[in-house]
Amino acid sequence: MSWKDEYNKKLCSLKEAVSHIKSGDRVVVAHAVGEPSALLDAMVENAESYKNVEIVHMVAMGSAKYCQPEMAGHFRHNSLFLGGSTRKAVEEGRGDFTPVYFSEVPNLLRTTLHPNVVLMHVTPPDEHGYCSLGVSVDYTKPASEVADIRIAQVNKNMPRTMGESFIHVSRLDYIAEHDAPIIELQPPAISDVEQAIGKNCASLIGDGDTLQLGIGAIPDAVLLFLKDKKDLGIHSEMFSDGVVELVEAGVITNRRKNLHPGKSVVTFLMGTKRLYDYVNNNPEVHMMPVDYVNNPSVIARNDNLVSINSCVQVDLLGQVVSASVGLKQISGVGGQVDFVRGANLSKNGRTIMAMPSTAQGGKVSKIVPLIDTGAAVTTSRYDVNYVVTEYGVAKLKYKTLRERARELIGIAHPDFRPNLAEEYEKRFKSKF
Ligand code: COA
Repeated sequence: MSWKDEYNKKLCSLKEAVSHIKSGDRVVVAHAVGEPSALLDAMVENAESYKNVEIVHMVAMGSAKYCQPEMAGHFRHNSLFLGGSTRKAVEEGRGDFTPVYFSEVPNLLRTTLHPNVVLMHVTPPDEHGYCSLGVSVDYTKPASEVADIRIAQVNKNMPRTMGESFIHVSRLDYIAEHDAPIIELQPPAISDVEQAIGKNCASLIGDGDTLQLGIGAIPDAVLLFLKDKKDLGIHSEMFSDGVVELVEAGVITNRRKNLHPGKSVVTFLMGTKRLYDYVNNNPEVHMMPVDYVNNPSVIARNDNLVSINSCVQVDLLGQVVSASVGLKQISGVGGQVDFVRGANLSKNGRTIMAMPSTAQGGKVSKIVPLIDTGAAVTTSRYDVNYVVTEYGVAKLKYKTLRERARELIGIAHPDFRPNLAEEYEKRFKSKF
């Protein structure tokens, strides 16, 4: 049978596609802006037909209707990274959170959370019958290799990304066509505080460095201050519109990378249509599964790897909390520790934790004597290098506990420094 005949045979409505999910199944869903929204909506509409379906998902972009209280008994969410629409379900005991490094999610699916079904979001097939996974290759490609059933939403608007992002029609089980714009994430407004943080981070970046950046105002602010650098490279779990600007300006060339020179290596993308148009059929952007991109030993094959991530709290020892506020789980480790480890292994690598000095409208300091009760350490004091706020750069690597505390107090918000200095004097039995 030709792939075209096979495609037509597998073609069905969204409703029929999700009818192949059975009670008790574990369903792994493509995440971030690669979320197959139409399949998810159809699945939720069909909720009455299911009992105890486990939804394994990472970054949920939409409203995550499967997490609503009325869905209890039909769906139970097992989150690998919490966000605005999924936190409440876990907080209220209607869902679970599994702590896992992003690089290990494919292995988690292979060894422990075997997917009965994977819901994917792909381009229409090319002339050889290959669909591209587009903006989210990360764990979806590995999930498609181990799931019992593969259901794909085929969407003409999904950019056809290159790299290891393809799946052949013969590997899909049910196909539902549904064209809708890919979810867009508008660049955030950048405040003065974020600008100052961006400038401080940029002072640690040199020509020829390879960067890992997250999403949000801080990474965007860093990019603003890189316009005069030369031959930067990208090896990052994700990137956004700001990177496109620097590629077009000739600042990011990837020329000096040791691994995949000439290419930006990434596992998922989030941004606006500008980014999606840029990556469409673009061999400069090399999409790979997350157990490759985020593997610390792969990351470290690039010399001069600089990772920039954000966090919630740092204590005076340099312990970094990134995914919880006290007992409340707010996100997940994502790729933070993968890249911190990779950067530490990279020759002349550097890892930066960048954050505003305060949270909650200036009411609390993010630099604290002790982390909040119940909070979990994300990046240990052994791995942390630089902490950056709008007040400067604290260099912690290979420093004593006293030196670390002094460095950190020096970049805390001035309103909180007297209290931190008092704590320093009590703990270290010496004058600040
Ligand atoms: N004390 C109390 N509350 C705090 C706090 C603190 N020290 N720091 C942050 N918060 C609260 C904020 O007020 C906010 O609450 P709200 O949602 O009710 O407004 C919430 O925590 C999130 O903080 P915010 O500063 O808006 O987060 P962000 O969107 O900038 O994300 C992280 C910051 C740390 C949560 C995010 O970077 C993360 O999850 N990191 C780990 C994953 C990672 O690094 N991945 C690799 C890169 S993709």
